[in-house]
Amino acid sequence: MRKWLQDKEIRAIESLDPDVAHYFTRGCGDDLVATEAPEAWRARRWRPRVLRDVSRIDTGVRLWGDWRMPLGVAPTAFHRLLHDGGEVATATGAAAAGVPFVLSSRATRRIEDVAAAIGGPWWFQVYLMHERSVTKALVQRAERHGATALVLTGDTPYVGYRASATGPRPLPITDDDALINIAEHLALDAGADPWPLIDQDPALSLTDIDWLREISDLPILVKGVLHPADAVACVDHGADGIWVSNHGGRQFDRAIATADALPSIVDAVDDDIPVVVDGGVRDGLDALTALALGARMAFVGRPVLWGLRTAGAAGVQQVLEEFAADIRHWAGCAGAARTADLDRSYLV
Ligand SMILES: Cc1cc2nc3c(=O)[nH]c(=O)nc-3n(C[C@H](O)[C@H](O)[C@H](O)COP(=O)(O)O)c2cc1C
Repeated sequence: MRKWLQDKEIRAIESLDPDVAHYFTRGCGDDLVATEAPEAWRARRWRPRVLRDVSRIDTGVRLWGDWRMPLGVAPTAFHRLLHDGGEVATATGAAAAGVPFVLSSRATRRIEDVAAAIGGPWWFQVYLMHERSVTKALVQRAERHGATALVLTGDTPYVGYRASATGPRPLPITDDDALINIAEHLALDAGADPWPLIDQDPALSLTDIDWLREISDLPILVKGVLHPADAVACVDHGADGIWVSNHGGRQFDRAIATADALPSIVDAVDDDIPVVVDGGVRDGLDALTALALGARMAFVGRPVLWGLRTAGAAGVQQVLEEFAADIRHWAGCAGAARTADLDRSYLV
């Protein structure tokens, strides 16, 4: 099933400016983690079950929304670099496929327009910016416009080192796009550089979960967790869910693969705390492996971006439909009539 996605990725990359392609494809450093991620899912072996009536297969999941399958769209930045429709197009495709769309704090379309395109529940990814009032304004706008969960990204105290393809050139993105949700909340003198105020604050700590709780009623997932002790500490500070992620290999180039980190985190937190995961999920069997290891849902970053680049909202939906068909197929062949019932007994 991966060939179709690889072909799409190649077509997307070939159509892009080399620096833009580099930004979307690469991890950080030597790209060790981004390269290893898909292999870690594929390394798992299954014990498929037999004689279990899989004539009907239920892939539904309820997690701050009712979703058609246990797969969602991870937050990624700057979609207008890929397609004019930007996040509105991506969100439209995700909503048509019945999966959660997580809007990045670094989106290039307005929160209000994305929410209207979805017309249902969605999640908002939070970067804690130096200027907390901007973060607060974004969170409260998201909540007003139908977001049903906040995803606090914890793994970017400093942005991972990614040399550009052609040398030190900034991404070809205008401030109008990059600051589309942010500019109205900044009181800046003309010509002043906004980034010192809106970059992620490396002082981010557990107490910021408490702060988010004060400014919003939404459930909070902490994203970028790889250590079980951090998962426990986040939950102790009131986190409602844990998102196991290494940021698609973009933050720490010798980090553990998420497939390997997931089980110890599932074991560390109470059963009623949902754990979700992303990183290198490239087909339905990867997603089902995540579920068997204890994740409630798996998320994809780059695959939907290739759909967005090649065919806008329809391309995003098409990628997700391929995943949906693949998930159903492999769940049936594994003998799992309900994907939510998968557990580690299916794995070697
Ligand atoms: C181009 C790009 C931009 C990203 N931007 C964000 C972001 O704004 N916020 C965030 O929490 N994660 C961001 N991520 C990380 C993704 O949410 C996710 O963890 C990762 O892409 C999953 O791995 P995959 O791409 O292998 O599926 C980004 C990833 C990529 C590839």
